[in-house]
This record gives sequence, C-alpha cells and structure tokens, in this order.
Amino acid sequence: MSPKGLNIVILAAGKGKRMRSDLPKVLHSLAGTSLLGHVLSTARGLAPGQLVVVIGHGAHHVQAAFPNAAVTWATQTEQLGTGHAVQQAVAYLDDATPTLVLYGDVPLTRIDTLRALLDAAGTERLGLLTAHVSDPTGYGRIVREGTQVSRIVEHKDATPEEHAINEINTGILVAPTPFLKRALGALRNDNAQAEYYLTDIVGIAVAEHLPVVTTQPAHVFEIEGVNSKAQLAALERIYQHSRANDLLEAGVTLADPARIDIRGELTHGQDVFIDVGCVFEGRVHLGDGAHVGPYAVLRNVEVGARTRVEAYCHLVDAVVGAEVSVGPFARLRPGATLEDGAHIGNFVEVKNSVIGKGSKANHLAYVGDATVGQRVNIGAGTITCNYDGANKYRTIIEDDVFIGSDTQLIAPVTVKRGATLGAGTTLTKDAPEDQLTLSRAKQMTIPGWKRPVKKPRA
Ligand code: UD1
Ligand code: CA
Repeated sequence: MSPKGLNIVILAAGKGKRMRSDLPKVLHSLAGTSLLGHVLSTARGLAPGQLVVVIGHGAHHVQAAFPNAAVTWATQTEQLGTGHAVQQAVAYLDDATPTLVLYGDVPLTRIDTLRALLDAAGTERLGLLTAHVSDPTGYGRIVREGTQVSRIVEHKDATPEEHAINEINTGILVAPTPFLKRALGALRNDNAQAEYYLTDIVGIAVAEHLPVVTTQPAHVFEIEGVNSKAQLAALERIYQHSRANDLLEAGVTLADPARIDIRGELTHGQDVFIDVGCVFEGRVHLGDGAHVGPYAVLRNVEVGARTRVEAYCHLVDAVVGAEVSVGPFARLRPGATLEDGAHIGNFVEVKNSVIGKGSKANHLAYVGDATVGQRVNIGAGTITCNYDGANKYRTIIEDDVFIGSDTQLIAPVTVKRGATLGAGTTLTKDAPEDQLTLSRAKQMTIPGWKRPVKKPRA
C-alpha cells in the first residue's frame, strides 16, 4: 500500500506526572529534540495527507513549541482514555485512507517498522504493532484464539491467565477510517479505569469480521514510551549507542562509542577521529581527516579537511576551513569563519569575524566583528574593542599585518597591509601600510631610586 494520503493521529494529551516537571511530557528532549518532535518527524516521513496531534495537558506550551508545524491540533480537555483521545481527531480524518495512531511519548519508532505495519494492514484490515516482552506488566495483552487475535485486554482488567500473556499491545495501530469512526462511537467505559479504551476496537473488528493482523518491530526500544526521567535517560543512551554504531560502521574512529553525544545531524568525510566526551548539536560536518579532541562541543559547525579541533573547544555557528588548528580551549561564536590554514590557540574567542588564510591568534585574544586578512599574526592579549556600550563597530586587519601583544584595537579602525603594531598599543586611528605604529608611554629609569623599607616599630 502506498502511504500517500494516510491519516496520522498522534496522542499527546497525557500529563506525564512521573516526569515531576512543569514541562509537558512530550516536550522533554531526547538527543536535543523533543519527544513529540521525534514522532512528528517520523510521521512526516510517511507523507500523511492528514496529521493530527491530540493535546490536552499543557496544550498551549505544546502548540507553541511547534509554531510552524503543518499539523492540525485537536484538544482533549479531559483525559478520558486513548479511545476518547482519538475521537477528538475524527473530524479531520479522510475516510478514503486508513488512520495510523502513534503516541507522542514513544520517540524511537523506526519508519520501516511503521511501513511494514501499513503494508500488512493495507486498506481493509486492522493492523496492530505488537511485541513479545519478558515483563508485560502494565501493558495491554494481545488475546488470541488459535493464531487469530480476538481482543486486547488491559493489564488492570486482565485475569491471572491473561497476565501470563507476554505479547503486548504497543498502542500503535492502523485502521480503515470508516471502521475506526464507527468503532470509536461504540466504545464504553465500563472497565477497571472507567476510560474509553482505543484497544476495545479490536473486539469490535473481530465481531464485524474485519481481519486483524499484527506485525512486530525489529527492536524493543522502538515501542518504549517515556514516563519517567529514568526511562528518558535509558532511551537517550540507546539512541546515542545506535548513532555511535552508525558512525563506526561509516568509518569514523571513535575513542569510545559510549562517550559521544549527537543531538542533531553529524555528517563526515573519511578518516575522521573523535575523542571522548564530545557533543555535536544541530548540523555538524567533519571533513576528511578531521580530528576532534576530547570534550569539544560543536553546534552548527562545518569543519574542513585535516583540521584539528583540540581538547575543550566550544564552537557554535562557525565555519572552519581545511588544515586549521583550533584550541585547546578555544571558543568560536556565531559568525566565526576560519579560512584554510588558520591557527586559533588557547583562550582565544572569535565572534562574527573572518580570520584569513594562514593567519594566527595563538594565545589569549578576543577577535569580534573583525575582518582579518591573510598571514596575519595576532599577538597574545590582543583585543578588538568592538563595543562602545551602545553600538558595535568593525575592525579591519589587512594581509601580512603583525600585531604585538596586549594591543587594543578601538573600532572602527583599520590596520593597513603589512603594518606592524608595537606591543601594548591602543590603536584609535588607522595604522598605515608597512610601518611600525605604536602608542606607548616612553620608558624611563629613575637613577638612585631606593625601594622603601619597613619602619622599625616605635
Ligand atoms: C495504552 C494501551 C495499552 C498499551 C499501552 C502501551 C489503551 C487503553 N491501552 O495503555 O494497551 O499496552 O498504551 O504503552 O489504549 N493519551 C491521551 N489521552 C488520554 C489517554 C492517553 O492523549 O485520555 C495518550 C497519552 O498521552 C500517551 C498515550 O495516549 O501518549 C498512551 O496513554 P497511556 O496512559 O500511557 O497508556 P495506557 O492507557 O496505560
Ligand atoms: Ca491510562
């Protein structure tokens, strides 16, 4: 079956009391993306014609977290059960295509698993995603007569014999939409929890002779929901472990696959090395032969070929060319561009600046709102004074400039090609080409001066 035109309903109205948090449960993040964000992106991968999210607890916060999401929000003001939740979405569902139900707090379901379920169910069958688990406590159980599913019984309603069943309902299902609407209308809440159970549609399907099929996910983590911080942390580790394995399989060398965190998209060339404790956020690309030292944080960064990012660097929204050396202990802030062969050393901060080819700032400097040419040497302790308390100004440093240590460049100011600035200069006017410019009090020595000595006590 082609999933085109599919309806998808994501249930996300529950409170998530066990998270012990003010944040609605589905907004807690796993690998830098909210739980609901994961489910939405999986859902979008199926190109649904209708995508409805049922919200209740913290509805405004949830909606506000997805301002541009092309989804229909349906509100469930009282949480009267999963069947009642889906009922809030029925007005938006297209009868001509089946409806897939997902949970907003089950983040790691793989799209292939859902496709297999959709394929098995087609348009004329009820499809359930089920799993065999060692501890089925709490889950709804799949009750079969022979091999045929006859119904689902919730844990709280089950008999001791039914408690022994270890095939569980994951909650994810797909149903022909006209059937779903009819069955939801027939639900009753005369059960242990006084809820309208979505799962009761299975018994209704069987009574109507609608075939019920089941498929299973490849991994149990795909159907695991998040109800507590411990479960969130456990799923985070499973996710990170699988990302690390993908990198290893793609040829990246990881010093320790258990000590890397990827919260976004990490792409790479060949022969990349990543040391322990690194965090990658947003979109990061590491070019061929790039080397990332321990405990580096990179968010939305492009790193060129054979570049080394040494230990303890923090790089955000930056572009780093080839054969560049960064750190240890360097900070690149938004808009930092390091061209090929540049060197940015320890305790150097670069913001909204271009550092040209082969230029160096090796120690203790602040380069902000600056354009630095090629082969420039920026001495230790150099600071671009880019801010007067109200406005920001640019500093231009042309090719082949040499800036002595402890220099302050009071922007707006230009250091012309080939200029040398003497150590300790406070530059307030442009420095001319190829000459030495310095601002410095004349050195003097006071002859015969004696150090004071302590007076004897009276
Ligand atoms: C449900 C299933 C159970 C299955 C289990 C898998 C029913 C009756 N039971 O259990 O068979 O084994 O999931 O985890 O369907 N929600 C709403 N509105 C509500 C109730 C729930 O939006 O009124 C949402 C929750 O936010 C959550 C999902 O539905 O995302 C499942 O709810 P939860 O209470 O966790 O599941 P159970 O009813 O315990
Ligand atoms: Ca419940």
